[in-house]
Amino acid sequence: MYKKIFSGVQPSGNLHLGNYLGAIKNFVTLQNEPKTDCVFCVVDLHAITVKHDPAKLKNNIRETTATFIACGIDPKKSIIFNQSSVSAHSEGAWILSCVSRMGWLNRMTQFKEKAGKDKEKASIGLYSYPILMAADILLYDATHVPVGNDQKQHLELCRDIAQKFNNDFKAPDFLKVPEPLIQKQFSRIMSLKDGLKKMSKSDPSDLSRINLTDDKDEIINKIKKAKTDPLKMPEIEDTLEKRPEVENLLGIYSSLLNQDLDKSKKEFKGKNFSEFKDRLSDLLIEKILPISKEIKRLLNDKKHLDNILLEGSVKAETISSKKIAKIKELMGF
Ligand code: TYM
Repeated sequence: MYKKIFSGVQPSGNLHLGNYLGAIKNFVTLQNEPKTDCVFCVVDLHAITVKHDPAKLKNNIRETTATFIACGIDPKKSIIFNQSSVSAHSEGAWILSCVSRMGWLNRMTQFKEKAGKDKEKASIGLYSYPILMAADILLYDATHVPVGNDQKQHLELCRDIAQKFNNDFKAPDFLKVPEPLIQKQFSRIMSLKDGLKKMSKSDPSDLSRINLTDDKDEIINKIKKAKTDPLKMPEIEDTLEKRPEVENLLGIYSSLLNQDLDKSKKEFKGKNFSEFKDRLSDLLIEKILPISKEIKRLLNDKKHLDNILLEGSVKAETISSKKIAKIKELMGF
């Protein structure tokens, strides 16, 4: 079967190790599989659902584009574009918002987390953002959507929206119901400061995450300061439920090496943390530093990045304009 992949990343600055291990690393693997077409979107319309600085948006879009490329996404093999340059995304989001139900959106936990205590002051965009995400996916007939674990509920909503649209407008199979691609292990990278909190760009402490633009000293310092516990490294049979920080650091190590958690446990069993942390820092430097350097290099040539987005947008427009035209026809416009 031919696979059609769609995924997106917000250009809100500070892309981090969670974005890389939970999503972008898998984009690259999928791109290199046979019989697979990939579309990767810099979702700039999603980035305005919270307060943003207009002076920084354009550069953040370029930085996310540079990050895609530095991580191994090849614009010759995959479509890379930014969402706001293809109007079908906003149009599709409006139409699908008339298909979606309030009750469905009211269940979205990410809105509750992001809106915080003062929901009255959150933007409508933040509330309806999963509908825009559904439009992104459905416009490209995506069969598979690689994401981190935090997007699981949004993908279930996308599936519900597609099924309801097909039912309401008597168009069986018209909107393709996508499969989420969420890794079984390491799909939720946690904060370096608190193993129960997700690694996130909105965490006020920069020590909580490894940014993909961090340099060698920053990586070493952050791993040195990463929270652990007074015990030694676990034995293979130890469960890590009560040691979330240890589980997270071992998970990061395993994911970077594409190896099983048990193998990493075996490697460090009973050792001191300092030895593990030194090895983890070395590995992060080996894997992340070349990405960080390449992002910086690519950002020196803004025109080149803008051209990649422009070419990608033309291709994305060709696909999505046909789909939106058909959607409108089915609705009776
Ligand atoms: P965003 O920009 O918050 O995150 C981009 C991708 O990174 C993953 N991710 C993580 N994975 C593991 N551990 C973490 N700590 C971590 N933090 C982030 C996210 O799961 C995501 O895959 N709504 C989406 C973007 C989006 C999209 C789409 C995705 C818009 N349209 C269509 C797929 C398909 C978002 O805000 O991701």
